[in-house]
Amino acid sequence: MASSLSVVILAAGKGTRMNGALPKVLHPLAGRPLLAHVVETASALNPEQICVVVGHGAESVRRRFADCGFTWVEQKEQLGTGHAVAQALPLIPDDASVLVLYGDVPLVTPDTLSALVQAGDRDLSLLTTRPENPAGYGRIVRDATKRIVGIVEEKDANEEQRRIPEVNTGLLACPAALLRALIGKLGRGNAQREYYLTDVVGMAADEGRPIQSQAAENSSEVLGVNDRSQLAAVERAYQLRLAERFLNDGVTLMDPSRFDVRGELRCGRDVVIDVNAVFEGTVILEDGVHVGAHCVIRDCRIGACTEVLPFSHLDGATIGSEARIGPYARLRPGADLADHVHVGNFVEVKQSTVGKGSKISHLSYVGDARVGQYVNIGAGTITCNYDGARKHQTEIGDGAFIGSGTELVAPVTVGAGANIGAGSTIRKDAPANKLTLSSTKQRTVDGWKRPVKKS
Ligand code: UD1
Ligand code: CA
Repeated sequence: MASSLSVVILAAGKGTRMNGALPKVLHPLAGRPLLAHVVETASALNPEQICVVVGHGAESVRRRFADCGFTWVEQKEQLGTGHAVAQALPLIPDDASVLVLYGDVPLVTPDTLSALVQAGDRDLSLLTTRPENPAGYGRIVRDATKRIVGIVEEKDANEEQRRIPEVNTGLLACPAALLRALIGKLGRGNAQREYYLTDVVGMAADEGRPIQSQAAENSSEVLGVNDRSQLAAVERAYQLRLAERFLNDGVTLMDPSRFDVRGELRCGRDVVIDVNAVFEGTVILEDGVHVGAHCVIRDCRIGACTEVLPFSHLDGATIGSEARIGPYARLRPGADLADHVHVGNFVEVKQSTVGKGSKISHLSYVGDARVGQYVNIGAGTITCNYDGARKHQTEIGDGAFIGSGTELVAPVTVGAGANIGAGSTIRKDAPANKLTLSSTKQRTVDGWKRPVKKS
């Protein structure tokens, strides 16, 4: 490529059809704002600068992308895509090449763009596509010799033009000096009373300039987000693209259309993921991990051959290998479980380490605890870690056995090999290798009568 590249990303529009408060480019796609995806793709081309044109919700967009090194350009009034590009042009040298991207067209790939940029180094170059349903897009008008002579927006198009299958993706590349000259001549004599960027195409054609077109290989790449139904379509297209990649890498997805990664998922081989799993933040699944149906997993590392059973919610946890979690388990940040640990249904673990081979199988809360190896925690055990002001630690030594229905009032230590009798409230340290219990004396009340309802 001869000249330096400036990318201009248009992100000033209101997104009226999204019908909500959030600026359109901040709506999440796979857990990240639409604009983040466009920027990531643009960055892959190593541009000299990335100018982001903001207007509606400018403050929140800038805040969300502070310290990203963008050149921010404010478009005070949204007078159209041509007007938006015009705001950025003073910051771009004449000998640069300009690539215009839309903040609401997030799936385009670096490969597609680099071909466009190459063509746009000398001539005005458009990325076009032929979607199944061209409604809403500007149509590419060609003459009898197939030469591009203009773009007509749907709102300005006649019946015949609306039948043109080839549409404008909005993305274009052009030498800066040429783009500057063309944009300077834009008017707003159209249905929307806007300065259409697309009008530069007709002007260039009138001047007899060559216009290149580049076809997007896959029309899902250039889907635009104008309303929430298109946002959902783009989300699914993104997830399917990702699912395809995992399938190729040796991951079994029970249904690639019911799989959602909203962040980064790294999988070893022979991982199996059942339907409706949601992955957020950074999740690492080592070889042979099984994730059951309907699990939500965020920021976790899960060791080899561990099984996560359905409906588990894991957040900020580290799990060793060959462990068994769930069904209906909840692991919260700081849950650090060693190999072969079992955590069963309706068990919550927070900010605690659990040693190798320990089992917490039913209905328990373990918070701010250090649980040793091969400990058995009976059903309904609760670490009472909070006194209303501060959190306190519970220590349970290796091989301890905690009877069902125990309350461990922290700070408290249960020694290695200790047994705690079922139903105890343990307020003082329980020594190693002994049975400790705190039971109220059982009594039976003679002559007691069960209350009856008045009829
Ligand atoms: C635009 C194209 C259309 C193309 C379609 C592809 C024009 C006139 N039309 O239509 O040919 O088929 O994209 O998706 O360009 N924006 C600003 N400032 C403005 C107006 C818009 O920054 O004053 C930004 C928006 O935030 C958005 C992008 O430009 O990111 C496109 O604007 P939008 O109004 O969505 O254009 P479309 O009607 O989709
Ligand atoms: Ca659009």
